[in-house]
This record gives sequence, C-alpha cells and structure tokens, in this order.
Amino acid sequence: MVTEIQRNALVSAARQAREHAYAPYSNYAVGSAILLEDGQIVTGVNVENASYGLSICAERTAVFKAVAAGARRILGVAVCTLNGGTPCGACRQVMAEFTTEDVPVLICDEQGNVRETSLYSLLPEHFGPGHLV
Ligand code: THU
Repeated sequence: MVTEIQRNALVSAARQAREHAYAPYSNYAVGSAILLEDGQIVTGVNVENASYGLSICAERTAVFKAVAAGARRILGVAVCTLNGGTPCGACRQVMAEFTTEDVPVLICDEQGNVRETSLYSLLPEHFGPGHLV
C-alpha cells in the first residue's frame, strides 16, 4: 500500500527532478519518480539527444536507474510535466515489467495539480513476463 505521505513524496521528487531534465529540442521537461519496496524513491528525467531518436523518457530513466541499483519491484509512480502529460506507451510497458499488481500513477503539472490513475488503467491487458511460459 502506498501511503498519502509516500504519494506526496513521489510528487515532490518528480517535480524537483524535472528541473534537471535535458530537453533542449522539445523543451518539454519531464520528471518522474518511482517508489521501491524498501521505501526508497528513485527519480528520472527525459534526456534528449541531437540525434533525436536516441532520446529517452523520464520514466524509463527512473526504472533503469532503479533496476541497475538492484530493485525489481515498483510500488508507485509520479510523473511531472508542464501540462499533465501521461506516460508514453513504451514507458507504460517498461514499468509494467516491474509490477505484479496494479500501482498508483500520479500525474502532475506545473500548476501544482495532481491526479491519480493507475498503471493498469493506462495499460490494460498488458503483455507481461507471465506470458512467456
Ligand atoms: N517524454 C517523457 O519523458 N515521458 C513520456 O512519457 C512522454 C514523453 C519526453 C520525451 C521527449 O524528451 C519529450 O518528452 C517530448 O516528447
């Protein structure tokens, strides 16, 4: 279960991380934060590249950082953008790899608005590790 305190911590971590986004081409800065089983929060930002196709989203940056540090399970997510943009399809799939149940996804904007949805609402009937039997 993700507490209200953890939800607030996720949102502020994503909001703060967004300040470090590297988005000189789109100018669309994204900050993300994921909550891990041990209570730790790992952040990510979008990192663009002059070779545009090599850019990576904030959510995948966070997941890959967490996995590289040994984590295997995501309990909650926050994403902060200018206008409440939701995670792209690729990021939804990557996040779903590391959840065994539905998890809260907090969508935040620059005005301070926060709305809650969930990963399985964003990605119903996702393909997962369980299909590879
Ligand atoms: N972006 C993210 O970081 N996360 C998403 O889920 C959607 C898009 C980034 C990619 C690119 O750097 C910028 O936003 C504009 O697409």
